[in-house]
Amino acid sequence: MDRFLINGPCKIKGVINLSGSKNASLPILAATILFEEPVEIKNLPNVKDIRTMLDLIKSLGFIIKKNKTNNSIIIKKKIIKTFASYSLVKTMRAGILVLGPLISKYRKATTSLPGGCLIGARPVNFHLDALGKLGMKHRIKKGYIFANAEKGLKGSIIKFPKISVGATENAILAATLAEGKTILKNCAIEPEIRIDLTNFLNKAGAKIKWKGKRSVEIEGVKKLNGISYSVMADRIECGTFCVAAVISKGEVKINGLNPKIISTELKLLKKIGAKIKNFENSILIKGPKKIKSIKLLKTKEYDGFPTDLQAPFMALLCKANGKSVIQERIFENRFTHVGELKRLGAKISIIKNKAIIKGNSNFEGAELMSSDLRASVALVIAAIVAKGNSIINRIYHLDRGYEKIENKLRKVGVNIKRLS
Ligand code: EPZ
Repeated sequence: MDRFLINGPCKIKGVINLSGSKNASLPILAATILFEEPVEIKNLPNVKDIRTMLDLIKSLGFIIKKNKTNNSIIIKKKIIKTFASYSLVKTMRAGILVLGPLISKYRKATTSLPGGCLIGARPVNFHLDALGKLGMKHRIKKGYIFANAEKGLKGSIIKFPKISVGATENAILAATLAEGKTILKNCAIEPEIRIDLTNFLNKAGAKIKWKGKRSVEIEGVKKLNGISYSVMADRIECGTFCVAAVISKGEVKINGLNPKIISTELKLLKKIGAKIKNFENSILIKGPKKIKSIKLLKTKEYDGFPTDLQAPFMALLCKANGKSVIQERIFENRFTHVGELKRLGAKISIIKNKAIIKGNSNFEGAELMSSDLRASVALVIAAIVAKGNSIINRIYHLDRGYEKIENKLRKVGVNIKRLS
């Protein structure tokens, strides 16, 4: 299993170009199941979860071609299978996103339940309830969802009991080809949904209109036209590199993302003391001499502070000049990085879903264990400013969602090596 060897402390200086967004690519790839004609998707990040989703789509009977610039072209074969296997869905929970399109287009689907992971139980009840309101019948047996919709899906009014990214995406995908109008309320409005998935489907002829903050209207259409579409940049990768620049008192120009998309995170980093200059599609960020603490930082649904940046910010607040508190409100067990940060010298205590970070920690290099995608990158960030060598094990977690992170970090001055 690959590991990282990082020799710190390093100061980050230079330019980083963002990859395409993993969390925009996954629903867009699932959406290609709705098409009859070939679809070209550009700017897909070359990360494990995307390769798994492409394998899943291939397993359904689609042909996937790469053109010379390595963009993926998805071509539907005559016969489509409607079975999404456990072996593929268990490693990448977003595999459940093929359920909506399969039911909407092929009126039947057998998809594995995604199962839980370290950060939480990850249930899919909101997905199943919403698809049920559109006319899907299902039963669960031996870890699989056996679903069908003999008469096809019919538009309906659905209000999500709780905001859910995946359930919102599955319902939009299913409603795109359903008969009549669907209104979804209390939706997740992450940019991957409200901007990228919506633009992708509307460019292909779908009729999706966002009304008010969390409501969307979808007028079902008969078919979608083949298109070429380039996925947006990864806002969580951008936030991650902003934190790395600030914690290392460095300066970095990050290209590819409209800063407005991460305005909440940038406001927070300014509060911590960072100097930030926004451009149309890039950010210049400089770390302060002194990192200020944050009294209470709560993770929220977009456009609040994202749970996916909770771990990187915790690493940063270990270096703040005072006590900070982080409250994780989205997932039930997303503090797995705390024990590893403490091995570097962090002083953190946990009370229920709150982490109390003492601050003013001096990190000493140590051997560390990755546990989930975002926890792993928090360890990389902390190791960059730790004195001496750190080894980070099981970086396959990182490879799920960060494309060639060691190359990007080495280019801006981090002494990092991948040991296979
Ligand atoms: C998406 O996961 C992201 N994954 C996650 O990013 C992200 O952390 C999460 O949204 C929250 O922003 C992708 O986009 C592929 P949810 P998702 O449905 O859709 C509960 C990463 O690191 N819930 O918004 O699974 C759920 O348990 C990943 O890139 C139900 O109870 O998140 C959680 O507590 C990690 N029933 C909360 O809602 C359901 O049917 C939010 O989950 C669905 C969700």
